[in-house]
Parts: sequence; C-alpha cells; structure tokens
Amino acid sequence: MPQPQPQGYSRQQIILHWVVALLVVLQFVLHEGIADAYDVAKDTGVYAMSAPVIGHIIGGALILLLACWRLILRNDRGTPPAPEGEPEVFRKAGHAAHLALYGLLIALPVTGALAWGGQMEAAGEAHEVLKTLLMLLVLAHIGAVVLHQLVWKTGILKRMMRAQD
Ligand code: HEM
Ligand code: HEM
Repeated sequence: MPQPQPQGYSRQQIILHWVVALLVVLQFVLHEGIADAYDVAKDTGVYAMSAPVIGHIIGGALILLLACWRLILRNDRGTPPAPEGEPEVFRKAGHAAHLALYGLLIALPVTGALAWGGQMEAAGEAHEVLKTLLMLLVLAHIGAVVLHQLVWKTGILKRMMRAQD
C-alpha cells in the first residue's frame, strides 16, 4: 500500500542533510592537497597517497554512500509537500534542483575515482566542471532558502531542523 506523504523530514533525513552539507564544504575547503598531487601525477605518472589525498577520497566516498542512503529514504518515506506560498514555477525548479544535487553528489565521487584510481584524464576534467556546477547549485539552493525565509515567509529552514518522524 502506498504510504501517505509525510508532513516533514524525518530525524534521519535531517541529520543526513547536514552531515552531507558539512562534508561537501570540507571537500571544497580542503581540495588543495589532491589538486596538487593530481598535477604531479599527470606529469610523472606517480599517484602518491598522502593524508590530504586520503582525506579527499574518504570524504568523497562517504558523500556517495550517504547520498545513496538519502535517495533510498526519499523513495521509501518520501518528502513533505512544497510549502504553501511558494510560486508554482519555483516548486518545479526546487524539485529539479534537489534531483540535480543528488546527481552531482553521485557523479563527483565517480569521476574523482576514475581520475585518481582509473587514471583517466577526461574524468579529471569532468570532475572540475562538476565541482563548479555543484558550487553554483548549492549557492542557488541557499539563495532559495533566503527567499523562502524573507520573501515568502514559509519558514522552510525549520523543516530541515525539526523532525516529523
Ligand atoms: C552544502 C551542500 C548542500 C546540499 C548538497 C544540500 C542538498 C539538499 C537536498 C538534496 C535537499 C532536498 C531534500 C532531501 O532530499 O533531503 C535539501 C533540502 C533543504 N536544504 Fe539543503 N543542501 C545543502 C546545504 C544547505 C544549506 C547551507 C542550507 C541552509 C541555508 C540548506 C537548507 C535546506 C532546506 C531548508 C531544505 C528543505 C527544502 C524543502 O523542504 O523543500 N541546505 N538540501
Ligand atoms: C562529492 C564528492 C567530491 C567533491 C565535492 C569533490 C570536490 C573537489 C574539488 C573542489 C576539487 C578541486 C578542483 C580544482 O582544483 O579546481 C577536487 C579535485 C579532485 N578530486 Fe574531488 N571531490 C569529490 C570526490 C572525490 C573522490 C571520491 C575522488 C577520488 C576517489 C576525488 C578525486 C579528485 C581528484 C583526482 C582531484 C584533482 C583533479 C581535479 O582537480 O579535477 N574527488 N575535488
């Protein structure tokens, strides 16, 4: 029997959202070690492991795992309906943006692994393009939250803070 649409996010969905957000920020802030090591690897063919490289790989692998877990939760439990007061066009854009965020959270670790583990230069180039797309989409995501809070006054931030299990 199909489950009724929940009225809010669950505790698990909320914790996973913020853990993944933190990991994504760390991937950006701490990217230099792997970017430098990759430049050396392309010149010399030596893919040297160091703490920053291992940290980037573990961080990325965790994001991939947690994003898949979130998709399973979305599928099993669902997500709350878009808040009243949000214009229709933004509802559709918001839904598309959330799916695109998931796509990027999966495509980034895959291209990263192919670039480092598989030594495919094209994957390294794709990784750079995708990381820029993710950055832009996260900025748009934060912009949308600000619009919700200040213009449409939907109090959307509370939905990602207070669980409705
Ligand atoms: C940095 C990386 C971030 C990523 C990858 C991300 C991703 C997502 C995704 C995929 C959703 C859809 C709901 C779900 O499936 O769980 C979502 C919802 C949400 N996010 Fe983020 N997010 C990030 C950062 C942030 C930040 C910094 C804020 C606060 C300013 C925020 C506030 C929200 C809110 C309020 C919702 C609920 C939207 C709704 O109920 O329709 N997110 N986020
Ligand atoms: C969602 C997860 C990931 C994010 C957000 C991310 C983000 C980044 C960022 C911001 C850079 C710096 C690019 C630059 O200097 O312009 C980078 C570089 C790199 N990352 Fe990741 N990464 C992720 C996952 C991974 C994984 C799992 C691996 C390997 C298994 C990996 C391998 C690499 C490599 C080889 C580079 C250097 C090549 C390049 O600059 O494109 N990444 N990553």
